[in-house]
Amino acid sequence: MKTLLALSIGAVLAGSTLLSTSVSAVTPAPYIHTQFSVTESMQQADLLVVLVPEDSGELRLSGWDRASRNHINRAISVAAFDGKAGSQLEIVAPVGLNYGRVLLLGVGNPAELTRVKAEDMGASLSSWVNGTKAETVHVHSQLIANASDNHRITAAMSHGVELRNYRFDRFKSQPDERPAQRYSWQVALATDARAQIEQKQALAQGVFTARELTNLPGSSGYPEAFANFAKAVLEPMGVEVTILGPEQVKALGMGSLYGVSQGSDMKAHLLVARWRGNNDEAPIALVGKGNTFDTGGYNLKTQAASILRMHTDKAGGAAVVGAIQALAGQKAEAHVVGVVPLSINMISGTAQLPGDVVTAGDGSTIEIGNTDAEGRLILADGIWYAREHIKPRAIVDIATLTGAKVGALGTSYSALFTKDQQIETTLREAGELVQERVWPMPLDGYDTIVRSRIADRINTGSPGAQAGAIFLQHFAGDIPWAHIDMAGDAFNASASGIHPEGSSGYGVRLLTEWVKLFQAQQN
Ligand code: BES
Ligand code: MN
Ligand code: ZN
Repeated sequence: MKTLLALSIGAVLAGSTLLSTSVSAVTPAPYIHTQFSVTESMQQADLLVVLVPEDSGELRLSGWDRASRNHINRAISVAAFDGKAGSQLEIVAPVGLNYGRVLLLGVGNPAELTRVKAEDMGASLSSWVNGTKAETVHVHSQLIANASDNHRITAAMSHGVELRNYRFDRFKSQPDERPAQRYSWQVALATDARAQIEQKQALAQGVFTARELTNLPGSSGYPEAFANFAKAVLEPMGVEVTILGPEQVKALGMGSLYGVSQGSDMKAHLLVARWRGNNDEAPIALVGKGNTFDTGGYNLKTQAASILRMHTDKAGGAAVVGAIQALAGQKAEAHVVGVVPLSINMISGTAQLPGDVVTAGDGSTIEIGNTDAEGRLILADGIWYAREHIKPRAIVDIATLTGAKVGALGTSYSALFTKDQQIETTLREAGELVQERVWPMPLDGYDTIVRSRIADRINTGSPGAQAGAIFLQHFAGDIPWAHIDMAGDAFNASASGIHPEGSSGYGVRLLTEWVKLFQAQQN
């Protein structure tokens, strides 16, 4: 009830008569439901989790009486629990201990436990805890003796807990009770572990924003709403936000961006978000496809299944907003500018027609071979805007661009196109780190595939993923540039690992880690 009221007030505040049919209050919501504390001593809780390295021998934790110790070690021996990474053993807590249950989680050799594995362990822990009545969870990690492993692993696990606990429930009149547990982490050194957990929380907040924006239905997350949402999130964090409306988009000559939404009441916008984390003059630019819904236009998507999920076509733009938020939240020492061209690809009496010609911001002309290849049309102007008005040292764009990418790589990798060796290496490294992996695809040899008979280039061509990339390359000019095609990676039909069902927030962690790796190699 409260939520519905808030929604209708928001709709009035939005003040748009054109959009009276939509439920369109899309103000940011607080996403942290999981509270964390960090300690160096045992705490009472409903559930005690003990992280057990391989070959730990007999378990004896401080405060355990003899009977409790025997009980737990007997369970370990009966179940042949060996502390191998991923192994687990649940024990009803002995009466002498102040816990309901004890869960032993094997971490193998801590030095070899990767960030991704630790995140997954946190994710499965949280989904397990959500199936119990436990509200307080104490995680004992002090058996991991090496302090840097200890802090790294607890921070990654807490990140996994938090990422899995996100819910998109703003449209539920009676939301399920959200996971609202309190976790206390017993670590080697509280100050250091706490700092690392806070960095991970800032990252998670960026992922949540991206998931939320991507999850918004088409009529709620339209270009202007997306831009205002991003501004409401970013400005309080010290990010400079500029929103160009449709008239400014036109006045700057960005006819390629403008044309995609010309048939809709919801016109093109361009979002610019700048995080000045150092004094570098030339920033790093991130450009994300913000097509808030893709009907295909007059080349209409005619299969129910292919059109239904197209509210997720803004996932690249959402990833850029989330990455800027994460970098700001982490106070990253980098100068980064996010640029998100925002459109909605729809039909009407004034919509773009197949075969039309538009003029992009750089003055070049584009033949619309297919209105459904709208992503590259809006990115062309987004990339050009970054080059011309931001003067960056590098540009990385990210987009749900082509079905061909899904055909080539599925969803285990996104496709990377670049001629810059340093960007390629650092993007692949960042992708491995957070398991949002990218795989290099060729640009060389495809120069002619977007040639147009009547204009400077055409927005279609074969092979499909290369055509998108080669088309975009032109608009980056001489600036070192990379294109990430993340089609298929934006949405999970069912929950798994760190992902609840729905939008994945793909790209936030990739771009955030990439900016830091790339920045570290500058100067
Ligand atoms: N947004 C789609 C690409 C897409 C497809 C994303 C499947 C996620 C899942 C894009 O705008 C599109 O429609 N691409 C067309 C281009 C073609 C018409 C040249 C495609 O790939 O089929
Ligand atoms: Mn399309
Ligand atoms: Zn699209």
